[in-house]
Amino acid sequence: MKAIQIATYNKNIIRALLGLKTVEKSAGSPGDDEVLVKMHAAPCNPSDIAFIQGTYNIVKSLPAVPGFEGAGTVVETGKNTGHLLGKKVSAFVQRDTDGTWAEFFVVHRDDLIVLKDEMDPDQAACFTVNPFTAYGLMEIALLRESKAVVQNAAGGQVAAFVRLMAAENGMEVINIVRKKESVDVLRQAGARHVLYENDEDFEQQLRGLCAELQATTAFDAVGGPLAGTIFNSLVPDAELVIYGGLSGKPVENLDVMGPIFQNKIISGFNLIDWKNELDAEDFEKISGFLQDKFIGGTYKTKIQGSTTLDKIVKGLRGYIANMSAGKILIRP
Ligand SMILES: NC(=O)c1ccc[n+]([C@@H]2O[C@H](COP(=O)([O-])OP(=O)(O)OC[C@H]3O[C@@H](n4cnc5c(N)ncnc54)[C@H](OP(=O)(O)O)[C@@H]3O)[C@@H](O)[C@H]2O)c1
Repeated sequence: MKAIQIATYNKNIIRALLGLKTVEKSAGSPGDDEVLVKMHAAPCNPSDIAFIQGTYNIVKSLPAVPGFEGAGTVVETGKNTGHLLGKKVSAFVQRDTDGTWAEFFVVHRDDLIVLKDEMDPDQAACFTVNPFTAYGLMEIALLRESKAVVQNAAGGQVAAFVRLMAAENGMEVINIVRKKESVDVLRQAGARHVLYENDEDFEQQLRGLCAELQATTAFDAVGGPLAGTIFNSLVPDAELVIYGGLSGKPVENLDVMGPIFQNKIISGFNLIDWKNELDAEDFEKISGFLQDKFIGGTYKTKIQGSTTLDKIVKGLRGYIANMSAGKILIRP
């Protein structure tokens, strides 16, 4: 089969992209608890970019096929997976095996979701990561009975799902973006509170809104000084949940008075850990709930275009230049 492979990690993003090579290799055959999936499409997420740079939590043995997420059809099964033959599935592959950026990929049965028939195949390619992440984040805000949440990287897809779920729960969202043009895009899409992080009075606006709307939960995907500013702007008893590090920088600016005298806390969220804490029945229920939202058309991942395995470098450069425009799908 044809696959994308990296031979080394490279922190420099241009070099990391240029290190993506198209190779011919065996599709492999599934072990007892695995299946072989014929890939329909796979997205590129920020975690995939961090992976090829060698800056992500998951480090695989090299050479490796990147791609943590994707969808397709099961074409071969193992001893314990015969019931999955022919099923349409979405997969999340973070084990030390080849990933999804290939014509075929092998996946453990615990790492896939069997899809309802009506699920759109392109939407299925982006189903296992962001919708569940937003769901898990919203559970935190709901448990805290927050009336409002703050989020940065608000033009991204996790943030878009957070907005939808917050609206369904009567919760306000204070959205923060890094590009001026994203303010209008989000407002036109119906977001009420959108702040541009480089405005001179950004911090003042953020503090004002947090107090007015009583924002007691914030979701940070960026880190760096912005994370500290958000934390400092939250009202007492609030929680900042860190779930991404898009700036590549450690959290800065944190006012120590918050944790000491205002009972503010910082926590982290990781999808895999969240999933592992759920029992299988609860996960199935959440998966069914989310799939119905997609099938009904309420939830949708924004997809800006697609590329092929052969043209992956060009395709991914387009995504990195404008991530808020939506995902790029890699097709075999
Ligand atoms: N912890 C978990 O389990 C988990 C699970 C899923 C996702 N995540 C994380 O969630 C974050 C968002 O993922 P996604 O798939 O929603 O992203 P996405 O749809 O690809 O969009 C990324 C968004 O982040 C913005 N952005 C990129 N770099 C930034 C920076 N340095 N400062 C501020 N904003 C920046 C982009 O804005 P521009 O358009 O201006 O570039 C874009 O709006 C990522 O960090 C990802 O790794 C974590």
